[in-house]
Amino acid sequence: MTTREQREAALKEAGYNTFLLRSRDVYIDLLTDSGTSAMSDRQWAGLMLGDEAYAGSENFYHLEEAVRRFYGYRHVIPTHQGRGAEHILSRILIRPGDVVPGNMYFTTTRLHQELAGATFTDVIIDEAHDPASEHPFKGDVDLEKLERVLKENPGRVPYVSVAATVNMAGGQPISLANLREVRALASRYGTRVILDATRVAENAWFIQQREPGQQGRPVADIVRELCSLTDGCTMSAKKDPLANIGGFLAVNDDEIAEQARNLVVVYEGLHTYGGMAGRDMEAVAIGIEESVQDDHIRARVGQVLYLGEKLRRWGIPIVVPVGGHGVFLDAKRFLPHVPQEHYPAQALAAALYLDSGVRAMERGIVSAGRDPQTGEERKPRLELVRLTIPRRVYTQAHMDVTAESVYCVFEEREKIRGLRMVFEPKFLRFFQARFEPIGGRLM
Ligand code: F0G
Repeated sequence: MTTREQREAALKEAGYNTFLLRSRDVYIDLLTDSGTSAMSDRQWAGLMLGDEAYAGSENFYHLEEAVRRFYGYRHVIPTHQGRGAEHILSRILIRPGDVVPGNMYFTTTRLHQELAGATFTDVIIDEAHDPASEHPFKGDVDLEKLERVLKENPGRVPYVSVAATVNMAGGQPISLANLREVRALASRYGTRVILDATRVAENAWFIQQREPGQQGRPVADIVRELCSLTDGCTMSAKKDPLANIGGFLAVNDDEIAEQARNLVVVYEGLHTYGGMAGRDMEAVAIGIEESVQDDHIRARVGQVLYLGEKLRRWGIPIVVPVGGHGVFLDAKRFLPHVPQEHYPAQALAAALYLDSGVRAMERGIVSAGRDPQTGEERKPRLELVRLTIPRRVYTQAHMDVTAESVYCVFEEREKIRGLRMVFEPKFLRFFQARFEPIGGRLM
């Protein structure tokens, strides 16, 4: 616990960016669900089985076996985390001038696509950009938008980039029916589908709960089918797979796998460790199996829902339906008096920290960054604060404290002022940007 004075000083020191706070100054840490989950006793035991051979570690083969069994891809290339896999895949598949359509952007994914010379095009359904739309599968691809991109760019779409549980839309799932159509369309136009499998188990849970004909089907089964509709995946093992670090690229194509095995030694490490220690690979392998258990995923998503429902009952504007990995506050409705150029979601995340020491993060105009062609700020329709719930870490009481703090900030919302950006890094600016309150005080 800290005092308000301490938090005021910490916030100033951090340039009003929750990424720049020291964790010791944070009470409940809802910055991200990435690498912050609690490993199980089995995973911790797995660390002790680390085979730290440079090449051909036992743990690599265990990881490879887990990926083949639970996701079904033939080739597994380990990487230090998700963006390592994105980097390698983008370098292999993308040529300058290509176009990559996807169901809403993700920060690191899009950046690697752009650095490889592609332009990302959003083809998600319109409902995904509306925080109040109750559509059950806001992660769905708009098939007409996708077909237009494929038709207008013959030979220049290396793959369709599909995320399971779309992070930037508020943790919203894609339906099986929609992914089947995406697969068919991509095949018709002779291109591939690459899955961002980072939160695929959470997506499968929503399919089991919401999609006609899928009730009662094990999550593990649905995960396998989702993956089977795609040609490969990038994975951040720091989310669904319950590890503190790790990731991989998995593909079915022999030629792509060979190129990936070659590139991984340049940027990550040998193809049988890719930047992870043997013990990390063991923890990931065990975590993959745990992540697709129905009981686990019910409790995990259930906890997020508990927080979301509470806030909703109190009339606090959030993205609905409640997402898989977090509750997203709608900063545009929360702070209607702060224009988007004054970074309302960034200010709201700062105000929440000031109130209680709960750390959330911005998912709006700061995260969206600048258009690489024009240099202009991109202005997403969604201006959100993400309360991200780590897996197996917090209790219901922590959710209650968080909800009460959000409520207190909501009561005082009219006092909160916008921010001015005073330092802007070139890449992924949200991680390290610094701000100052307009008028000298945040509230
Ligand atoms: N894809 C998605 C959907 C993600 O959410 C992330 C990371 C990545 C890829 C990249 O993986 O971090 O292991 O390199 N998301 C974190 C977050 C950073 O807080 O949402 P990574």
